[in-house]
Amino acid sequence: MYIGTEQLTHTYMPGTPFATKALQDITFSLQQGCFALIIGPSGSGKSTLIQHLNGLLKPTAGRVFFAGQSIGSDKQALLGLRKKIGLVFQMPEEQFFAETVYDEIAFAPRNQGLTENEVEERVNNAFEKTGLQSASLLKRHPFQLSAGQKRLVAIAAVLSLNPEVLILDEPTVALDLDSRDHLFNLLAQLNQEEGLTIIISTHHLDHVAALADTALVLKQGQLMLAGSLDEVFSRRKALYEMGLSLPAVTEIMHSLAERGLPVSTCVYTMQKAKQEILAAKKRG
Ligand SMILES: Nc1ncnc2c1ncn2[C@@H]1O[C@H](COP(=O)(O)OP(=O)(O)O)[C@@H](O)[C@H]1O
Ligand SMILES: [Mg+2]
Repeated sequence: MYIGTEQLTHTYMPGTPFATKALQDITFSLQQGCFALIIGPSGSGKSTLIQHLNGLLKPTAGRVFFAGQSIGSDKQALLGLRKKIGLVFQMPEEQFFAETVYDEIAFAPRNQGLTENEVEERVNNAFEKTGLQSASLLKRHPFQLSAGQKRLVAIAAVLSLNPEVLILDEPTVALDLDSRDHLFNLLAQLNQEEGLTIIISTHHLDHVAALADTALVLKQGQLMLAGSLDEVFSRRKALYEMGLSLPAVTEIMHSLAERGLPVSTCVYTMQKAKQEILAAKKRG
């Protein structure tokens, strides 16, 4: 197991009248290099689970694993862990505090005690990876950027730690279509070319299904489905009952299959849909 949990349970405000069981008995394991989706309705426990994966929240019961080891509460070990597992919060730009984009991205590497030359290299490297175009942006105030640019700066601020795993909590919230496409392309590139393990929670399955290989589905704090994306997305009825729908193109393929057209339903892009339909027609 590269990253995962064993019977993880989390209760907020335990022992008070406000106690909320946000996660219950969650067990799963993910492979290194995977691109995993955490999906589920609002309030199902996605953010709570994500914050356990880099040790920000402590399990009420059960354990979290990374690279074969149980994540404990030792301070030094947790600091090491957070260098390897980068977490981008929901609406991360709300937590910007530096005067320039450069300083925002430089914060984490500076905190590690790197020399200013090393910090500069980390900043430039992370900034370039995100595909932000003009280097002059580095001198701007973070609040002078567009929503899409701010989100990329927040991601660069985490990439500057050179993490092995990048976890993002609803990274496309409040982004326009172009920024969302750019972000998903960036995640695909980090996964395929840089070998980063990517874990994201999202509602925008249409765009991300073609990139991901693994899915976890939460409902009311319980893990309802887990496995390869194809396995999980083949459970259309179960997903529907949880208030979740498949990507639009996958829905169309299910409808065609139900009407007797011999097509695969594991289809997440228009291009693959076209190929499948043409091949099915050819077969008669
Ligand atoms: N800080 C908190 N204190 C108390 N309850 C919380 C807190 N954060 C989340 N919860 C509760 O835990 C449950 C899961 O929330 P969350 O993990 O934020 O779900 P999601 O990210 O899927 O919307 C919800 O019932 C939510 O109200
Ligand atoms: Mg959430």
